[in-house]
Amino acid sequence: MPKKIVILTGAGISAESGIKTFRDPDGLWEGHRPEEVATPEAFRRDPEMVYRFYNARRNRLQSGRIEPNPAHLALVRLEQAIGDSFLLVTQNVDNLHERAGTKRIIHMHGELMKKRCQYCSTISTYDRDLTTEDQCSSCGETGGMRPHIVWFGEMPFELDRIWSEVADCEVFAAIGTSGVVEPAASLVHEARRTGADTFCFSLDSPENRGAFDNFIEGKAGETVPPWVDQFIASAS
Ligand code: OAD
Repeated sequence: MPKKIVILTGAGISAESGIKTFRDPDGLWEGHRPEEVATPEAFRRDPEMVYRFYNARRNRLQSGRIEPNPAHLALVRLEQAIGDSFLLVTQNVDNLHERAGTKRIIHMHGELMKKRCQYCSTISTYDRDLTTEDQCSSCGETGGMRPHIVWFGEMPFELDRIWSEVADCEVFAAIGTSGVVEPAASLVHEARRTGADTFCFSLDSPENRGAFDNFIEGKAGETVPPWVDQFIASAS
């Protein structure tokens, strides 16, 4: 049986695909920090602004200029090699892992390509900009559609499953995440507590660098593929 691996990805894995990370020095949008827009309070105060922010991100993702990079593709090779022993937990709301071919994935912070009705909780995909006029096709209410995104102060999705998979893994690797947003930043502690080998791939030293056994510095598109290939070779 191959080793059970949990991979945690963050904005850094999509940086080489052309998506800005959250904590880029030039990460302001219309003068706001993303943390000021991605909140339930911002949505109550100014839904049009929050829609503009997510519509712009979603449109850019579909513009044809954003493609999966070698790090996304390497994780697909890893999944194909070890099957059900693989789980990818991503904080990213883009769909680059799926576009690369990943199947076993949890989007703990939601998905840009989906909307959710605040009245009946129905989740669906959509193909045009979200507005305050949108009607839910399930319950018929107007004005309650929101991006299917976990905002600051809200609970990430599937936490129980994520926690138990991490407690059960033999290898835990975090790729391109700054280690400042909880609870994702604490998953490495759970992996270490239960004896997993832990790896961190990042351009800079993350906040929780000290919690990892191994730190591999550099661009994910350059560091992750050789690690995956070596792992597959040693497992076969
Ligand atoms: P951040 O923007 O906080 O961190 C990105 C990390 O990736 C940094 O540590 C960079 O050094 C690293 N990085 C940048 N380019 C890289 C590259 N080419 N290869 C490898 N590493 C690279 O993004 P996250 O940690 O994902 O939450 O942010 C966590 C959460 O904070 C997000 O999911 C979002 C945000 O607020 C919600 O929206 C709820």
